[in-house]
Amino acid sequence: MNDKNSSDFKRIQNRADIVEIVKTYVPLESHGKNYFGVCPFHDDHSPSMSVSPEKQIYKCFVCGATGNIFNFVENFLGVTFLEAVKIVADKVGENFTIKENKEDTRNKKYYDIMNLATLLYQNNLRTPEGAEAREYLHKRGITDEIIKDFSIGLAPRQADMLYKLLSSKNISKKDMDDLGLIAEGENGTYDLFRNRIMFPLKSPTGKVNGYSGRIYNTTSNSKYINTRETVIFKKRENLFNYHLAAPAARQEKFIVICEGQMDAIRIYSVGIKNVVATMGTALAKEQVALLKKLGVKVIVVMDNDSAGEMASISIGQTLTKEGIDLGIVRLTGKKDPDEYIITYGVDAFKDNIKHPMSYPEFMEITLRKNRNLANPTELSAYINDMINMISDSNDDILIEVTINKLVDEFHLDKELLKSRVKNKSVEITVDVAPKIQQNSTEIGDKQAKQSNKFNRAFKTMLYYMMNDTDCMRLFLHYQLNLPKCKYRLVSNNLIYYFELNRSIDFADYLTFSEDYEEVSEVVKEIIRDVHVDEFSTKDMEAVIKIMKTMIDNEKIRELKEEMKNELDVNRKKRLFENIIEIKKGCVENGRN
Ligand code: CTP
Ligand code: MN
Repeated sequence: MNDKNSSDFKRIQNRADIVEIVKTYVPLESHGKNYFGVCPFHDDHSPSMSVSPEKQIYKCFVCGATGNIFNFVENFLGVTFLEAVKIVADKVGENFTIKENKEDTRNKKYYDIMNLATLLYQNNLRTPEGAEAREYLHKRGITDEIIKDFSIGLAPRQADMLYKLLSSKNISKKDMDDLGLIAEGENGTYDLFRNRIMFPLKSPTGKVNGYSGRIYNTTSNSKYINTRETVIFKKRENLFNYHLAAPAARQEKFIVICEGQMDAIRIYSVGIKNVVATMGTALAKEQVALLKKLGVKVIVVMDNDSAGEMASISIGQTLTKEGIDLGIVRLTGKKDPDEYIITYGVDAFKDNIKHPMSYPEFMEITLRKNRNLANPTELSAYINDMINMISDSNDDILIEVTINKLVDEFHLDKELLKSRVKNKSVEITVDVAPKIQQNSTEIGDKQAKQSNKFNRAFKTMLYYMMNDTDCMRLFLHYQLNLPKCKYRLVSNNLIYYFELNRSIDFADYLTFSEDYEEVSEVVKEIIRDVHVDEFSTKDMEAVIKIMKTMIDNEKIRELKEEMKNELDVNRKKRLFENIIEIKKGCVENGRN
């Protein structure tokens, strides 16, 4: 962790009271030592999230969401950790500036150039030259406010206006070319975008990295020209409007995905800000990852043509495979969401969004189209397609419902269909379970119980360590020989934190652990699972001893096993002495 950042976090955290800040987002009521509110991180109806002023953390008893004030703001607003720190800092009147990451710094030059170009386009739209384009936009219901929200502009008619402007600012031709802004012709260098309405494309963090330029007063040219792949524009990693849609989606618990930027702009402008557009291509895995990251339901609203139907099938399949919750909307009567909203109004559109089909429902309709199910060949093709489709899902209930429907309608054997789904989805189904003997299952159970018990003790011990400096010291005093596991990662991380700070501060440690992804996940698991409010070293000692006994017993078991297989008498003797040594330690501890 960056030392400067680390001390900034502490300074801000000390000033911020989690209760006061959470209250600005969610109503809280005081109840005993803690405060309670409806959890914003799952579909909650009664107050299941507690906020502890003492520990400066929040914790939901239903969905398990937990963390400190920075984590709360991060998750509530769907911003990055550093952005959350900045928001909290602003609220409590502390200074904090976010340093850009390495890649952003390296590309800063390029983003600056794109910003200059965007400004030129925006200005040009406001000049008399832009009158016709403005009229075109207004006619399409794009207000000045939306023009501003989306930084919409107009590329000049003059062939090399942008090139000249950028040259006058000492920007090299190479840089302009790297960004896909210029081209080389018979009469020299010219601007790639001329006399087109310019829709800036923005990265997931909201930086302009490309353009989509639309014709407006001609029909001869191709409707849209988009920036090619450049140093900063990677089509696969962009979704139109993602940077504005992401926080809105986290709040609304769903996101709409459509084809065209015009559709996204229309949907956005009627108040559904959680909308992105694919820009007419298939979804790349990077784009799927952007959607998955939001952890919300995806509502697919493609155009009302056969290409849109194909896109719905393919996106539905991709999202299903990724285990992303989705719904499909097929609009009727108009070509795309933009025209649909203009013709039938916002409410009709919202009604569609609220009642999407599940993917299997949509596929059922699609796969039946143009098929005569009275014909046995076509019927079996249909059933096979349905089975293939449902096999991509890991939603057991959806699978069950779909199978039942097929069984009822076509009087099929349920077990047959079920086994077909299984064999499709789990390609390598090696049937191990029945071969395991009864008694070995019991041994397995016993071991599982044992390890559950151990994990529980481990987590409890770590929780004490995170909360109380004396408990931390006690832990160090005992020098346990901890087994290699994810919990040991946390104890090592805590020791490291303690070395740096010489004391323990719970909320501050949470921030510290953020820098270690693996550790941070386990830390959150511990906070979720352990419920202790008072921290006495006496209790800590009891937990340590339980752990020590379990560790020792395990060691003894291993040594006994080794002894059994050892043929050399001397070595056998040494192993035996080892066991005695450990047992003695146990007894001594017991007397303490
Ligand atoms: N597209 C493109 N090049 C084209 C046509 C389309 O890049 N020649 C992309 C654009 O991103 C467009 C999307 O595909 O937004 C969907 O195309 P289409 O449905 O034809 O455009 P609309 O979004 O309906 O745009 P408009 O309403 O302005 O015609
Ligand atoms: Mn359209």
